[in-house]
Amino acid sequence: MPSNYDNSAAFYDQLSRMVFGKALIKAQSHLLKQVPPNASVLIVGGGTGWILEELSNIHYSGLDITYVEISSRMTALAKKRNTGINKVTFINDAIENTSPETAYDVVITPFLLDSFTEDTLEKAFAHMHQQLKPKGLWLCTDFQLTGKLWQTLLLKSMYFFFRILCGIETMSLPKIDHQFYKHGYKVLSIKSFYGEFIISTRYQKP
Ligand SMILES: C[S@@+](CC[C@H](N)C(=O)[O-])C[C@H]1O[C@@H](n2cnc3c(N)ncnc32)[C@H](O)[C@@H]1O
Repeated sequence: MPSNYDNSAAFYDQLSRMVFGKALIKAQSHLLKQVPPNASVLIVGGGTGWILEELSNIHYSGLDITYVEISSRMTALAKKRNTGINKVTFINDAIENTSPETAYDVVITPFLLDSFTEDTLEKAFAHMHQQLKPKGLWLCTDFQLTGKLWQTLLLKSMYFFFRILCGIETMSLPKIDHQFYKHGYKVLSIKSFYGEFIISTRYQKP
């Protein structure tokens, strides 16, 4: 069963800011600048939707955004966001259940892929890969382990906490970069944050 953050929706942003300060926002905002004007954008697992406001601060109009979020509480909060005069379609479902039609110039996965097991990541990744147009951009922000003990301990605590609260299905970080490599993506840029624990990568589909 996919992870559902319903039970944490009311305090997710406050909690993540308490632990990471502004690092999560900086890491995602850094990539949002790469969204071209008038693009069709798929945002998956955007949580409470602050990312919609950040994106609309960069492009007040012209974007055609599809916001896919499995948590109904997160989706309800996201619907209240100011999105300028961009077109936004909200889908309250798992990404795996959405139309596989190839429709997007940009796919954004902000701290989504870490929630999957190797197996479910493989399927969800293949689905989004199909939805992204050839030469399209995939903006991915997520955790990485670079061998520091504190990273491993912090990640384990987060998985433990979200397993109890939200039924998150994995207890270890799946090989996210392996999926991009396997599907032939080119790395256009990489930037790390929070002692290299967070990595924002701009990929391009072949
Ligand atoms: C770790 S939270 C990140 C939230 C937000 N991106 C942020 O950084 O504040 C992951 C989000 O992905 C959503 N999610 C998990 N699995 C999903 C799936 N298969 N399809 C769509 N959304 C999913 C969860 O409900 C949750 O809101």
